[in-house]
Amino acid sequence: MKDRKTLFIIFGATGDLAQRKLYPALFNLYQKGFLKDKFAVIGTARRPWTNEHLQEVVRNSVADMEYSALEINQFASHFYYQSHNVTDTQHYETLNKLADQLDKKYDIGGNRIFYLATSPAFFGTIAKHLRTQKLVTENGYNRLVIEKPFGHNLKTAKDLNDSISKYFDEKDIFQIDHYLGKEMVQSIYAIRFANPIFSSLWNNRYISNIQITVGEVLGVEERAGYYENVGALRDMVQNHILQLVSLLTMNAPVAYNADDIEREKISALKSLKIYEPDEVSRNFIRGQYGPAYGMPAYREESQVSKDSMTETFVAGKIQVNNMNFADVPIYIRTGKRMAVKGTRIDVVFKDMPNNIFSNEKLNPNVLTINIDPNPGTSLRLNEKEVSETSYPVSSVTMNFRYSSALKAKTPEAYEKLLFDVIKGDATNFVHWKEVEYSWKFIDAIREAWDQNGQDPAIFPNYECGSMGPREADELLIRDGNYWEFNPLR
Ligand code: BG6
Repeated sequence: MKDRKTLFIIFGATGDLAQRKLYPALFNLYQKGFLKDKFAVIGTARRPWTNEHLQEVVRNSVADMEYSALEINQFASHFYYQSHNVTDTQHYETLNKLADQLDKKYDIGGNRIFYLATSPAFFGTIAKHLRTQKLVTENGYNRLVIEKPFGHNLKTAKDLNDSISKYFDEKDIFQIDHYLGKEMVQSIYAIRFANPIFSSLWNNRYISNIQITVGEVLGVEERAGYYENVGALRDMVQNHILQLVSLLTMNAPVAYNADDIEREKISALKSLKIYEPDEVSRNFIRGQYGPAYGMPAYREESQVSKDSMTETFVAGKIQVNNMNFADVPIYIRTGKRMAVKGTRIDVVFKDMPNNIFSNEKLNPNVLTINIDPNPGTSLRLNEKEVSETSYPVSSVTMNFRYSSALKAKTPEAYEKLLFDVIKGDATNFVHWKEVEYSWKFIDAIREAWDQNGQDPAIFPNYECGSMGPREADELLIRDGNYWEFNPLR
C-alpha cells in the first residue's frame, strides 16, 4: 500500500487547481507514506518556469500545513518543470526524455498518471500526442485524469469523448467530479446499503420526496469570465447534483466496486425524465442575484454583461423513472450568493397512514445527510413529550456530527481521488455514459430556456443573502411540500 511508484505529468501545472488542490493533496499522500521515494512530478505549462521556480510554488502551496521545512523541501525536490506547448510534437519528445530519465532515477517502473488540469479544448490534442509520441509506456499503467467541464452540451461532450477515447481506453480515463471525493457523499452508499432500516424503506412506498441543496455564499469572484458562458445549470447541476441524484436513486449494486456501481449509476441517470419544452417552466426555475447588503448584483460584476441572462441559481424538480423512485419528486437547488454555504440532502419520509394521536399533524421523519461544511447525519423522529395529563407527540432529532478531531483527520476530496487514481480504483469517478445521460437531461432544460425567456427584465430576481427566488419555494408548495433546510426561518 505504501511507497507507490508513480510519475505524475501535470498539464496546467502553473494554474490555480494545481496550486490550490493538487500539490497539497500530493503532499498529504507523501506525509502518509503512500508516496515516498519512488515518485516524481513533471509540471508542464506554456510559461518558461524552471524546476526551482515550480518547487518554490509547490513549497508555498503547502506552506500553511504543519510540517517542517525539511519535509517540505524533500517533497518539493520530487518536482520538475518542463515548458510545453500542447500542439508541438517535439515538445512531447522532450517531455518523454525527461519522463524516462525520472522513471529510472526514481525506479518508477513505467507507471504514469497524466493529469489534464488544462482547458478541455486541449484534452483531445494532448491524449493524441501522448499516444503518438509514445509517452504511454509498455511496462506500467497509464492513466489519464480529466476535470470538468466535460462539454457544453451533449454534442460537444460527445466530440470531446470521441477525441479522447480514440487514444485511451475507458478503463484508463479517470473523470473527476470532486463531489464524489467528499466523505459524506461516499457515505451515502453505507447509509443506504449497510442499514436495513434505510434499505428497506428506500423507495416510493415510504419516501415522500428528496431535497438537495447546494448553497454558496460566494459570488462568481474572479471566475466571471468562465461563469458567464456556463451558468449554474451547467456548472453545478449537470455534474455534482446529478451525481448526487444517481447515488440516492440507484438500485443496490451487486458489490461495492467500480463496475457494479457504475452500472447502477448509469441506469439511474438513464431513468431521468427528460422534460418536454412546455414542462420545463413548471419544473425548473432559474435566478440571478441582485444587490443587497452592500454586495453588487451579478450584472455589476466585472466581465459580466449589463443585461446578462446567465443564471446564478437553479431550482428544479427531477423525476427518476425507475421502479423504486417513480413518483418521488427530487427537488434540487443551488446558487451563488445565497444565505449559507451548505450542501445538504433531506430525505423526507411519507406520513403515517393513520394518525391515532390528537396532534392535528405529525411531522414527517426526515433523514438529513450533511455534506458540507459540518459533515454528519441526523434523523428526525416523533416521540412523546413529557406530560402527565395528555399525550402530546413532538419531533426530536438524533444527531451525528463529525467531531473536530474527526473532521481534521478527514482527507480532502482531491487527496482521496488522487490516491484512487494511483490505486486504479474507479469507484468514485464518472463514467462517460453518466455524462451522456446527464447532458441529455440538461440540454432539454437549457434549450427551452434559450428559446423562451430571453427577456432581460426577468433578472435579477433574488437578493444576495437569500435562499433564491420565491418560485423556488413555490415549486414545492404546489406539491404540498416545503424545503426542510431553511436557515432563514
Ligand atoms: C465547482 C464549481 O465545480 O464547484 C464552482 O465550478 C463551485 O462554481 C464549486 O463553487 C463548489 O464546490 P464545493 O466543494 O465548494 O461545494
